[in-house]
Amino acid sequence: MAGKKLQGQCLRIVSPVSPAGLYCCYGVIIVLTGAVIALSVALSLSVRKSEDVSIKNTHGTCPRNWIGFGSKCFYFSEDISNWTFSQNFCMKLKAQLARFDNMEELNFLRRYKGTFDYWIGLHRESPQHPWRWMDNTEYNSSVPIRGVEDYAYLNNNGISGARIYADRRWICSKPNSYILQCQIPFASS
Ligand SMILES: *[C@@H]1O[C@H](CO)[C@@H](O)[C@H](O)[C@H]1NC(C)=O
Ligand SMILES: *[C@@H]1O[C@H](CO)[C@@H](O)[C@H](O)[C@H]1NC(C)=O
Repeated sequence: MAGKKLQGQCLRIVSPVSPAGLYCCYGVIIVLTGAVIALSVALSLSVRKSEDVSIKNTHGTCPRNWIGFGSKCFYFSEDISNWTFSQNFCMKLKAQLARFDNMEELNFLRRYKGTFDYWIGLHRESPQHPWRWMDNTEYNSSVPIRGVEDYAYLNNNGISGARIYADRRWICSKPNSYILQCQIPFASS
């Protein structure tokens, strides 16, 4: 008799089942589950959103085999050829031999070129003429071009001039189409 009474008391202590407490527990579980679901949905949405953005800013808007950097897409050839062929190759892809407009872009090209030399889009009529980009704008000579020849290429020491018929790799560049699209509404206003 006494043993049974004790057992009953223990049971009551171990599981104090009051309906109010139970509902409270269920409530907390439901709220927590809801919060976890909401959080994971929000997280997956924000991950997808940032993926969209990064795709647009890098590979998405540059053609396959081109590399996006800043506001431009760059193509690094694996073939080698002379300067004229290289420029024609770029023009067929609606681009030009590469142009850099700030030190970040030049540093990117120098980093990415590895150990190879590449033609870029600078030339001059003669050593008495200024260096010009492919669109005929004058080069501001911020980075000096070594040598006495008239067609520029990027090498391990910086930029040098060479003769037009030398064969080497080349870099094309063109504006990033996504950035171009974004700028059109502003440009036309
Ligand atoms: C000259 O060109 C370099 C690289 O293209 C650029 O960083 C620099 O701001 C330019 N300087 C001027 C005065 O335009
Ligand atoms: C450049 O290379 C192309 C194709 O190999 C060739 O037809 C052309 O004569 C070369 N031009 C110069 C200036 O060397």
